[in-house]
Amino acid sequence: MLRISSLKKLVTDSMAIDLGTASTIIAVKGRGVVLDEPSLVAINEMTEEIVAFGEEAGDMTGREGRDIVVRAPLIGGVVGDFERTKKMLAHFVKKAKTGGSQVSLQAVMSMVSDVTHVEQRALLNAAEESHIGKVFMMEEGLAAAFGAGVLPTDKRASAIIDIGAATTNIAIVAKGTIVHSKSERYGSSSINEALATHLRRHRGLQVGEETTEFLKTTFASAYLPDDISKSIVVRGRDVQTGSPAAVDITTGEVYPIVEAIVRKIAETVRDTLTELRPEVAADIYDRGVILTGGGALLDGIDKYLRGFINLPVIVSDEPRYATVNGLVKMFDDPKLLERVSRNELSVLQNAEIPFEA
Ligand SMILES: Nc1ncnc2c1ncn2[C@@H]1O[C@H](COP(=O)(O)OP(=O)(O)OP(=O)(O)O)[C@@H](O)[C@H]1O
Ligand SMILES: [Mg+2]
Repeated sequence: MLRISSLKKLVTDSMAIDLGTASTIIAVKGRGVVLDEPSLVAINEMTEEIVAFGEEAGDMTGREGRDIVVRAPLIGGVVGDFERTKKMLAHFVKKAKTGGSQVSLQAVMSMVSDVTHVEQRALLNAAEESHIGKVFMMEEGLAAAFGAGVLPTDKRASAIIDIGAATTNIAIVAKGTIVHSKSERYGSSSINEALATHLRRHRGLQVGEETTEFLKTTFASAYLPDDISKSIVVRGRDVQTGSPAAVDITTGEVYPIVEAIVRKIAETVRDTLTELRPEVAADIYDRGVILTGGGALLDGIDKYLRGFINLPVIVSDEPRYATVNGLVKMFDDPKLLERVSRNELSVLQNAEIPFEA
């Protein structure tokens, strides 16, 4: 006879969802990360219908068919296009369920700290309409901290800098609570934009997202390279003639463009660290900061930040998965999940009162 508890196991999924601007990552309790796809939809402009999601939509980017456009429904870490975000989330949830159990009874999802009430409601609605059971919302910074190994019982403070695609989120965490946070609406994709702007303005070449992403991840660094004359061919469209074209670009030309964005991020970190209470500042002085998010993978960004703030800087394990790993840990501790989730209306309203107001 099948016992109720084992039956329950078959149908129960606890799902953790990091709905990011660049990627959506889903982990299931006991199974780890089951989905990691770009937060993109491909739309048929004639019918307004979504024809592809995620990876499949990403493969169309820049080379869309005549009537197809690829869109990122989340802009700046928030829900820019509610209807499409909802459909995308539902699609990903459905995909994450196949292969494992079919029913999700609870889910926990992250949100940026300075999310407005309206934005949070939109996210929560999108999640609830995806049929994943009870949905808990949790601050991204706290999830990233737990995912990076910070213990909810640790009474001393830790600093977590999550560099995502469109947001940089700084969270100072102690005793499983955020004691201070700052969220800026720029991140690693600002580097892509700066590279594209530079190529267009100074080299007369229009390039697509795939090209800037390739440049950033394989050729760019946050330190001045030893050999600044090392070059790479970049292809695109000539601004003047419109013809297919290519230019050579060197590491020496790329570095200052990247550095300008990295400096902006570093300045935000430095400034935020001046806003701490003395005991918290003392903890951070000893411990330094932890980097999470895909932006932490930029070559040398930890070294750059270390030089800038004069404190230890480490990159967490699997920085892109820190948030989702932290979210999924919450299912091991239902009391903690209850405490850290911010679904109650009153809490939501409090969320709009700035820190130390
Ligand atoms: N190897 C790499 N080098 C440099 N940048 C990288 C690398 N891998 C990923 N990135 C960048 O990390 C960013 C994505 O990070 P992440 O997945 O944490 O973002 P997100 O959670 O979707 O965004 P957000 O938190 O802003 O909503 C992208 O801008 C991507 O280009
Ligand atoms: Mg993120």
